[in-house]
Amino acid sequence: MTRAVLIGDIHCYQLWVAPWQLLGKRILGQINLWKSRRKRFDAARLDVVVQKALRLGPELLLLSGDFSTTAMPREFEQAITKLKPLTDAVQQVLAVPGNHDRYTYLATRSQLPRHYLGDWMPAKFPAMIPVSKSWSVLMLDSAVPRKITSRGELGQEQINQLIRLLDATADGQNIIVLCHYAIGNPPAFSRMKHNHQLAEQQALIDILGRAAKRLNIIFTHGHVHYPWAWPRDEGFFDLNSGSPTMMDPHFPHGQGFWELELDDKDVAQTCLTHHVLQGSFDNPKWTQTQFRPIK
Ligand SMILES: [Fe+2]
Ligand SMILES: [Fe+2]
Repeated sequence: MTRAVLIGDIHCYQLWVAPWQLLGKRILGQINLWKSRRKRFDAARLDVVVQKALRLGPELLLLSGDFSTTAMPREFEQAITKLKPLTDAVQQVLAVPGNHDRYTYLATRSQLPRHYLGDWMPAKFPAMIPVSKSWSVLMLDSAVPRKITSRGELGQEQINQLIRLLDATADGQNIIVLCHYAIGNPPAFSRMKHNHQLAEQQALIDILGRAAKRLNIIFTHGHVHYPWAWPRDEGFFDLNSGSPTMMDPHFPHGQGFWELELDDKDVAQTCLTHHVLQGSFDNPKWTQTQFRPIK
C-alpha cells in the first residue's frame, strides 16, 4: 500500500507589492486581494495541515497547483517554505502548475513554476510516473497565462501524447491523473463559468471515459475551491483537492486535504480520506470522511 497526500490551491499572497510589479493582469489580482480574497485565505492554516499530513506518514505528496496568487516569487517562496517539512519527509513529490502560477506572461516566460517547483514537475508534460507496483500518476499541464479570463488549456500536442500514454498502459492498471483544472462539477453544484473552464474539458472527459473501460482512474485536481469526491457516470472517479487555506461557511477553518491509500494487492480497498480542521489552531481537531473510489 502506498500512502499519498493531495494538497491544492494554497494561494499564498502578499498584500503590498512594488508599483513596478503591478503589470498586466497582476493589477486585477491585487485589487481582488485587497477587496476580498485576503479575508477568505489564510496561509497560516497550511502549517496545521502540513503537521497533520506529516503524522499520517505519507510516501508520496501530490500538489495540484495554484501555489501563488499572482505568480510573484515571494508567493512561491512562502508556499515552498511552508510545505518544506512535508516535502522533506516524503519519498516523492509531484506537482503541476495552476493558472495563478502562470498569472502573467512575464511569469510564464521566465519559467517561474519551473524555477520554483523544479524536480517536482516532469521535464515534459504529459508524463506517466510509476509510484507503486500497479499505480502511476499521469501529470497534465493545464495552466496558461491569459489577459483577462482564467481559462485553461492542454493543447493538441499534449492531448495526442495523453491518448498515446493511456493506450500504452496495460489493462487493469491504476492511474491517478494530476491536473489543475476541473472537468465539470457534481450535479449539486452550480455549473462552472465558461471563463474558468478547461478549453478541452469535453475532450478530456471523453478520453478518460474511454480509458476507464479498462483502467481504474482517479482524476485529481483543484481550481474550483470546494472539495468533492464524485463517482462519475463516465466511469472514473473525480477528486477535488479543495483549498486548505480558504475559509467558507461550509469549511470555516479551511477546506482540508486528502489522504489516498493506494492498494496494490486489492485495489477495491483503495481509500480516499478527507481530513478537515475543526476548531482553533491551539487545539486543532480533525474530522475524517472516507470514500472507496474503485468498486
Ligand atoms: Fe485556485
Ligand atoms: Fe486555479
